[in-house]
Amino acid sequence: MKIITNIAEMKKISKDLKKSSRRISFIPTMGKLHNGHVKLIEKGKEYGDVIVSIFVNPAQFGPDEDFNNYPRDFENDSKILKDLNIGYLFHPAADIVKNTETFLIDPEYSNRLEGVFRPAHFQGVLTIVMKLFCIINPDFAFFGLKDYQQYILIKKMVEDYFLDIEVMPVPTVREKCGLAMSSRNAYFNEDDKKIACNFYKSLKKTADLFKAGETSGEKLTVSTIKELIKSGFKIDYLKIMDKGLNIEKQSVEAGDILLAAARFKGVRLIDNIFFE
Ligand code: PAF
Repeated sequence: MKIITNIAEMKKISKDLKKSSRRISFIPTMGKLHNGHVKLIEKGKEYGDVIVSIFVNPAQFGPDEDFNNYPRDFENDSKILKDLNIGYLFHPAADIVKNTETFLIDPEYSNRLEGVFRPAHFQGVLTIVMKLFCIINPDFAFFGLKDYQQYILIKKMVEDYFLDIEVMPVPTVREKCGLAMSSRNAYFNEDDKKIACNFYKSLKKTADLFKAGETSGEKLTVSTIKELIKSGFKIDYLKIMDKGLNIEKQSVEAGDILLAAARFKGVRLIDNIFFE
C-alpha cells in the first residue's frame, strides 16, 4: 500500500489511474477505522481502485469539541488497510485546510439538526470533502448513512458544482446490540457502552410503533425522548423529517426518517432510522 502525504503526488497518482482508464472509488475518513469503514471500503472495491484518506479535519470541530482528543491510531489503521489490500492511503498534513479563506457553506441545511448544535461543522465538512474531491477526482465516493445529513449535503454539493462523482450511500454498520459503529465509541468503557446501546434500541422501538399503526409525529417522539432521558442521555435533537431533510413531519409516512443526537457520559452519539 502506498502512503501519500503530498498533494501534488496524490493528484498525479489519480490522474495516472484515470489515464489508464481505471475507475476511482474514494473513501474519506478521519481514521480510527472500524467495521463501518471496512464496509465502505468493501463497497468501494466493487466499483474501482480504492483510495482511502485519513485526515482529522480541524475545520469541522467547534471550539468546545473533541478535536484534540479525537481517537487517532494511524499504525493500526494502516494495518487494517494493508490487510484489505488497499492500494493508496492519502494522509495529508494540516496545511490542506490551514489558511483557507473560501469555505463552502449551505446555510439552509446547516441550520437544522446537526447544524444547530455544531454551527461550523458542515462548513468544515463540505470544504474538506471538496478539497479531497479536487485532489483525487474520484468516480465514486462512499459515505455512511449514520451521518445522514452529511450524506445529503455532500450529494447536494456534488449536484450544485456539477461534479462527475457518484455519491454512494452505505448502510450503517452496528454492534450486536444495535449501537452504530463510530470512532467515538472508543471513548466508552464496557459498562457505559452497554447503556449507549439503548440509543438505537429506542429509535428502533419508535420505528416499530409506526409499523404498528402510530403515525403522529408527536406521539412517536415523546415516549422515545422520555425513555432516553431516563437512561441518562442528554438529547440534542430527536426529529422526524422527510427523507430530503426539508420538513419536520407531524403526520409520519413510510420513507420518513427519525434522526437523533444525544450525549451520554460526555460522548456525542448520532443515529437515525427510516420508517417502513
Ligand atoms: O464522516 C467523516 O468521517 C468526516 O466528516 C469526513 C467525511 C471524512 C470529512 O472529514
